[in-house]
Amino acid sequence: MATKQLGIILNGATGRICRTQHMRGGLVPIRDEGGLTVGDDQIVPRMLLAGRNEDRLAEVAREYGIEEWTTDLDSALADPDFPVFFDAAATHLRLDTLNKAIDAGKHIYTEKPIAPTVAEGIELMKRADAKGLKHGAVEDKLFLPGFRKLSNLMDRGFFGRVLGFKLEFGWWVFNGIEAESQRPSWNYKKSGGGGLLSDMHPHWRYVIEGILGPINHVSCAAWTAQPDRIDEDGNRYKVDVEDATATLLEMDSGARGIINSSWATRVRGDDLVTFQIDGTDGSAVAGLRNCWTQSAADTPLIHGFNMGSGPETMDFYEDYNAQWKGVPEVAPYKNPYRFGWEGFIPHVVADTPFNHTLAAGIRDVQLAEACDRSSAEKAWVDMAPVT
Ligand SMILES: NC(=O)c1ccc[n+]([C@@H]2O[C@H](COP(=O)([O-])OP(=O)(O)OC[C@H]3O[C@@H](n4cnc5c(N)ncnc54)[C@H](O)[C@@H]3O)[C@@H](O)[C@H]2O)c1
Repeated sequence: MATKQLGIILNGATGRICRTQHMRGGLVPIRDEGGLTVGDDQIVPRMLLAGRNEDRLAEVAREYGIEEWTTDLDSALADPDFPVFFDAAATHLRLDTLNKAIDAGKHIYTEKPIAPTVAEGIELMKRADAKGLKHGAVEDKLFLPGFRKLSNLMDRGFFGRVLGFKLEFGWWVFNGIEAESQRPSWNYKKSGGGGLLSDMHPHWRYVIEGILGPINHVSCAAWTAQPDRIDEDGNRYKVDVEDATATLLEMDSGARGIINSSWATRVRGDDLVTFQIDGTDGSAVAGLRNCWTQSAADTPLIHGFNMGSGPETMDFYEDYNAQWKGVPEVAPYKNPYRFGWEGFIPHVVADTPFNHTLAAGIRDVQLAEACDRSSAEKAWVDMAPVT
């Protein structure tokens, strides 16, 4: 077995998601375990960190035992020892950066959203395909332990006929006025590529279609719940993107569902995101890690509101939750972002099939775009696949 290095430029390496997930959770353990076995070869990622701040880059490089970093993206792109370019920098820079990487002949793997619009995403993919380059989009949430359990239940026919679903996501993001905001300010500025639809709906697209099949139509309301915020430098600004959304979905299967996503809601429930599917034979609710089921046979008889006989004595929350069964762990935990690298690296070096190409990333953007249009026009929008 031959050990080979695969040079990967990590752009936006000092950012939160690149550092804590792609590096710490994915590439660094793959490297430290001696690489990925692909055919007869052992492929070891060789990371080159790219960013703007030399000190920060050096610090991250030191933390992960990486020897190469640069603030000169052009020279990194010109280096033939690094055939793969990964982008996890701020969203508004993505399209230009990916185009540059394609011009330089790099295979590209990118965080979401892969482009601001479907049309721009298609152009990007055409350019990569024309050069025979491999491409991929990060679609990590399907690999969350809770959602994998939900997906397994679907594959095993647990639900019978799926009737409906609800996906609830969000928490309170402080606006910087009463307490420091826990998210970067670009998330709340159109010029920074912010907005909850383009941030989270790409995820909800592949999670929902990955488990339940095609979405046919959507209807969405998106609004700005917290209009005034203070940024990292203490400057007050007006939020010009949505930070709360409610979406209705019509599925090809006939089921209907909802997505509630909000940065302006306070958490009460099983997890920061929950996805409930209801079917004729049973229901299941998944959070990030756990999944609970209630089969048709276990379904309690609920007579309805019973307020006539005085105050309710049971602990409603506890008692109803107790009627759900936890789905056991069947596989050891693996970081969800690592799955993507374990698929993309063999795709690059051995042309193995990979589901999460730019075509998937474009479909992810399509849901965000359709919801944006629906909200602006107050109308249902068709989700027929773009060709
Ligand atoms: N897959 C996921 O679950 C997930 C989660 C969070 C973020 N993301 C995506 O990852 C990307 C980064 O998000 P984050 O939360 O890590 O943000 P972040 O603000 O922590 O990091 C952004 C990175 O971009 C760099 N950057 C910002 N402005 C720049 C500029 N003008 N020129 C060059 N570099 C610049 C920053 O230095 C930093 O390295 C976004 O596109 C976001 O949509 C994906």
